[in-house]
Amino acid sequence: MNFLRSALRWSLLFAAPLLISPAVSAAQTSTHSSPAPSRVKQSGAAVPEAYPPALVQSGGSLFRQNCSFCHGRDAAGGESGPDLTRSKLVTQDVGGDKIGPVVRNGRPAKGMRSFDFSEQQIAGLVAFIHTQQNTALRRKGGRKGVDASDLQTGNVEAGKQYFDGAGGCATCHSPTVDLAGIASRYQGLELEEQMLYPKHAKSKVTVTLASGQTITGTLEYLDEFTVGLIDSTGAYRSWRTGDVQYKIDAPVNAHVELLSKYTDADIHNLMAYLQTLR
Ligand code: HEC
Ligand code: HEC
Repeated sequence: MNFLRSALRWSLLFAAPLLISPAVSAAQTSTHSSPAPSRVKQSGAAVPEAYPPALVQSGGSLFRQNCSFCHGRDAAGGESGPDLTRSKLVTQDVGGDKIGPVVRNGRPAKGMRSFDFSEQQIAGLVAFIHTQQNTALRRKGGRKGVDASDLQTGNVEAGKQYFDGAGGCATCHSPTVDLAGIASRYQGLELEEQMLYPKHAKSKVTVTLASGQTITGTLEYLDEFTVGLIDSTGAYRSWRTGDVQYKIDAPVNAHVELLSKYTDADIHNLMAYLQTLR
């Protein structure tokens, strides 16, 4: 399945009031378990469940207030809760029929309490969790080729405007600094993949020592006990997590959020613009 097309389809779906398709999650399960994605399988599978962005957003903030503590900010697992983006239960869930009861009853024996949420709140959580799972699945390569012809249809000027304006790209990137020559480093489809899901993105981390001194660097290592970074001199430094405070900034999250924001025209225009940065 062609990713751009599915992006297009989402943007159409997002415009629709509420679209939850049970058939789709079944189809998805089968694609991800099939090792060699054939064209047929792909085209049968590719439309992820699409939820209205506002619902996903409200679910996301509820999730961050109540669940991130254990399941991680992006539902990808934390210190005391499993990765929900890999959860079979989530994959099998249709419109909240599995997630809802877990949230309402909790898993007290395992340390998850119950939550007394309204239907609407549960619907938001469900939308958020599925969206996170869909994104994670796509990132792992559930999505394949993009048509080269899709790259030829954008408008450079509109792309530049989106970059500087509505897209917010310019708040993090500059066409003459980090993105200078980007189109020589990646060609066509590869460039597009890199734009949609930057693969080499490293997270930044700021560590605050007990003395109050802060050190910022590129996150190199993190587990329950240790946080390690490469500092501005290129040196690796690490601390026991219990001894310091740390704050991680994964800017690539901005790219994940952008996925629900772009229209297909935005993507085409951006691609046309980026391709001028040689
Ligand atoms: C105190 C930590 C904690 C909090 C807070 C928490 N969970 Fe959990 N959650 C867990 C643990 C631990 C499990 C795994 C239970 C098990 O292994 O059966 C779990 C399991 C789940 C599962 C089932 C996953 C599966 O594959 O079986 C879902 C869905 C879930 N949590 C959603 C949520 C949501 C939504 C919230 C917030 C409203 C939340 N959790 C809050 C700890 C937590
Ligand atoms: C909040 C910050 C932020 C925003 C907003 C943002 N990006 Fe990024 N982007 C990043 C980070 C961080 C990386 C990873 C950088 C790296 O690995 O060199 C990245 C990577 C990229 C890459 C790949 C760069 C490379 O050298 O591999 C492209 C292309 C890109 N972004 C384009 C865009 C476009 C187009 C937009 C707007 C639609 C955008 N970004 C919005 C932070 C952001």
